[in-house]
Amino acid sequence: MSDYPIDITVTPEVKAFFDEATNTISYVVKDPASSHCAVIDSVMDIDYAAGRITYDNADEIIAYVQDNGLTVDWLIETHVHADHLSAAPYIQQKLGGKIGIGEQITTVQDTFGKVFNEGTEFQRDGSQFDALFVDGDTYKIGNLEAVALYTPGHTPACMTHVIGNAAFVGDTLFMPDGGSARADFPGGDAGVLYDSIMKVLSLPGEMRLFMCHDYAPGGREIQWETTVAEEKANNIHVGEGKSKEDFIKFRTERDATLDMPKLIIPSLQVNMRAGEIPTDKDGKPMLKVPLNGL
Ligand SMILES: [Fe+2]
Repeated sequence: MSDYPIDITVTPEVKAFFDEATNTISYVVKDPASSHCAVIDSVMDIDYAAGRITYDNADEIIAYVQDNGLTVDWLIETHVHADHLSAAPYIQQKLGGKIGIGEQITTVQDTFGKVFNEGTEFQRDGSQFDALFVDGDTYKIGNLEAVALYTPGHTPACMTHVIGNAAFVGDTLFMPDGGSARADFPGGDAGVLYDSIMKVLSLPGEMRLFMCHDYAPGGREIQWETTVAEEKANNIHVGEGKSKEDFIKFRTERDATLDMPKLIIPSLQVNMRAGEIPTDKDGKPMLKVPLNGL
């Protein structure tokens, strides 16, 4: 970890927004020394059965940013989510900021461009995003330096964003009692995920970790914040005493029992376009359902 410009002495202000419909946590991360912030993993609401899009979640984030007089520098996607739709373009339109994701988005676009039989007008070069990050890339939130760490395995484009003493791990890890996310989507790999988790856990022990999801195992309250030291000691999938071999076996067997996320079909089509809704040949907003394609 010494290769990355991480400054654990800086404590950014982190405001979390929990989406009950998808168990997603979005964040506004503020530079303590200025009014600049980043929005991480925002959610657009969808009633998939009705084909209806709304923005209650995003409007809550927008109101928070405006009420606190903040300037949005970045809209970060930790990865191409399969369980919720991004609201990044909607928030960008209202508040500005650049939309950034891992450069391996191109792999995801290539895979799902084929699944959804997208034509040549669907660019697979990540150009829908304002910035594509590779491992170790840095960017500024006001005076604060953020670092993107490449942490694939759940998907090929997953990145963990380290901002001062706060790391946003996406779906690399869940809370200690939740373990880890699945690794069976196209381009996912349990062994690669294990290595990425070890990379996150090699950050300083006091580093705060912020989850993208929580499913409240055992009926406890929803939680989203832990530390590297906590995960190392107590994570039920990778904590003390668990080997990579054990993890791969467990993860692979478990993933084989999981249903597809309810919103995977709309999520992928929107999120691989940086949150833009696809349109049909007449320019109408429209989604596809590939049969037996996933
Ligand atoms: Fe995910």
